[in-house]
Amino acid sequence: MSVKFYREENQVPLEMHKVRVVQKLNLLPVEERLRAIQEAGNNTFLLRNKDIYMDMLTDSGVNAMSDRQTAAMHIADDSYAGSESFLRLKNAIKEVFGVDYVLPVHQGRAAENILANRFVSPGKVALMNFHFTTTKAHVTRLGGEVIELVKKKGLEPVNDEPFKGDFDLKLLEKTIKETGPEKVAFVRVEAGTNLIGGQPVSLENMCAVADICHKFGVPSILDASLLQDNIYFMKKREAQCKYMAPKEIYHLLADKMDIIYFSARKLGFARGGAIISHNTVLIKSMMEFIPLYEGFLTYGGIDVRSIEAMAEGLYESLDMEYLSHGPEFIEYLVRELDDYGVPVIKPAGGLGAHLNCQAFVPDMPHDQYPAAAVCAALYIAGGIRPMERGTLSEQRDPDGTERFAELELARLAVPRRVFTLSQIKYVADRVKWVWDNRQLIGGLKWVEEPDVLRFFFGRLKEIGHWQEDLADKFRQDFGNSL
Ligand code: F0G
Repeated sequence: MSVKFYREENQVPLEMHKVRVVQKLNLLPVEERLRAIQEAGNNTFLLRNKDIYMDMLTDSGVNAMSDRQTAAMHIADDSYAGSESFLRLKNAIKEVFGVDYVLPVHQGRAAENILANRFVSPGKVALMNFHFTTTKAHVTRLGGEVIELVKKKGLEPVNDEPFKGDFDLKLLEKTIKETGPEKVAFVRVEAGTNLIGGQPVSLENMCAVADICHKFGVPSILDASLLQDNIYFMKKREAQCKYMAPKEIYHLLADKMDIIYFSARKLGFARGGAIISHNTVLIKSMMEFIPLYEGFLTYGGIDVRSIEAMAEGLYESLDMEYLSHGPEFIEYLVRELDDYGVPVIKPAGGLGAHLNCQAFVPDMPHDQYPAAAVCAALYIAGGIRPMERGTLSEQRDPDGTERFAELELARLAVPRRVFTLSQIKYVADRVKWVWDNRQLIGGLKWVEEPDVLRFFFGRLKEIGHWQEDLADKFRQDFGNSL
């Protein structure tokens, strides 16, 4: 925190920006919230945005743009080939990462599609600190297998590990040796490890992973989608980074890793994405996929205005005042919830606050989807839209067996530069009410279960009548309040 308050008890995260464009929000009465979540099949992805007060589904593509980003959009150069906008993006990537070669893609998972096509074939394994939903789906689609090598402590809901996303380095070496390096498609380091609670990876660990890959001749890939938050934590929690400028860290990582890819819906407060590398041979081996799946090499399926916003946003991702906003707001929310006794993943990470639903509703079986049930309850209680990050977000095994998630999380994402502190306080308050009424929360069962990425489109219903009971209790406790 760079600004110290005079009275210690007044200390809160302070925004280093002001709001100049606003969007009206709706907060529906609880009876309508009950109807809306049931119509959405208890799936927060299927809610309509107009029915939501706090959209905390994700930080992807919903971060507020700066005046400089929206200004840059006006000078976008619309051209199928050789657009000046793409040259400006290349310059931004050169400045931020020090890298010359850029393959633009329309978003992060498009990069994963291309990387999987390039490196994965049946029988190969992709080693990761932890999987991300879309990454895993692309690897398994091509007959590969994902093996997760995050250190054990990363999966404990609460401890004081500063870098829970770190690889278990011994296990990584052992796995490469036992599998045989030729069968390893790649090793992927996910910065700000999403599904374990936005938990960072240390610079030391990332560099050690790259060194191990180098030793065995295995490609190293950094998923930098959540690198912004991760750099904040490196600077706060890792001695060697304290006096490094963010740019030095970006450059060092680009020098170490064979390939970096990212979703600009997160990194750079915009939309789009890219695959970048110093290695021309690797870049050339993926180049042909860009016109095939994305668009010509100078737009990659991204609208030119978004390319301009992305370029400007990448420069902003060097600015500690912008980098700090997400993690500081998240830390504040986590601290409030923790003070209320609500079970949260600790230490606070990036991306959002994560409720530990195994502890929230401890008696609910995994196959009644505790995290999804808590998400539905939060929407009923406050028009808050979280995202289920538990068993529902997993895929069943090929034989149909349910694969229970290591962690049952309800994620409250904090998009950058969007919410005010009073809105964050409101969320903490409503979560506290749900926590105090947790005995009312019941499970969910499938009505429609898609085979692939079921959490996007699947529909469920309550087991019993608990949602009506929760809404009734809200009326009793809050009277006429929305
Ligand atoms: N990698 C990570 C670590 C991500 O968190 C995401 C997206 C992607 C890749 C894919 O990027 O959405 O641009 O295709 N995460 C979003 C989320 C969807 O809500 O956590 P994308």
